[in-house]
Amino acid sequence: MGHHDHPHKFDPANAARLDDPLRREAMPPARLAAALALQPGDRVADIGSGAGYWLISLLDASPDGVVFQGVDSEPAMLAVLEERLRNHPRRADVTLTRSTEHAVPLADGSVDVVVMGAVYHELADRPGFLREVRRLLSPGGRLAVIDWDALPPGVERTMGPPTDERVPFATALEEIGAAAFTGAAPIDGFRESYCLVARKAA
Ligand SMILES: C[S@@+](CC[C@H](N)C(=O)[O-])C[C@H]1O[C@@H](n2cnc3c(N)ncnc32)[C@H](O)[C@@H]1O
Repeated sequence: MGHHDHPHKFDPANAARLDDPLRREAMPPARLAAALALQPGDRVADIGSGAGYWLISLLDASPDGVVFQGVDSEPAMLAVLEERLRNHPRRADVTLTRSTEHAVPLADGSVDVVVMGAVYHELADRPGFLREVRRLLSPGGRLAVIDWDALPPGVERTMGPPTDERVPFATALEEIGAAAFTGAAPIDGFRESYCLVARKAA
């Protein structure tokens, strides 16, 4: 099934919309970088990396020795990211990997931090995908989920997916806790959206 058949999938033709000054205010990548405080040796997978909104910001903010996987199920999105990274001085620290709807082809325990930005609401099977994320993570590894929050009734969205496609903050918190992640806590500074960072429970 292509993205055109699936009402909840982002259309790669709109990739440019993912990088917007208003979005940078609502979902500030610098806040995530500060919260994660990546250290040399950390292996980061940005799953549903799209045009690299999170990946490129984290790459720019991280010390040498932090390595990244850009993972996406949509080849057209990986192509956009590859193009945006073309002349990046740290291009060699990024590997691009195509995944499928339910599986990420990375080894067990091979990732220290998983970032999922504006993709949680697109997943066909969120509990199943969280099991897959746990499998990838090393002991004590961290998961950051950033997504658009549900809006109060009557409030019009300015950005992001329609309200009825969103996963509210409370739902994400509950699902991530139920999937054996601990200490799930929101990072400050996000508007109309949330950024949850949790740790893989032993
Ligand atoms: C709305 S875009 C967000 C892209 C980027 N993370 C950002 O925040 O700008 C969602 C991305 O997730 C990808 N995606 C959707 N479902 C996926 C899945 N099950 N596994 C991997 N990627 C997925 C889409 O192809 C798209 O690139």
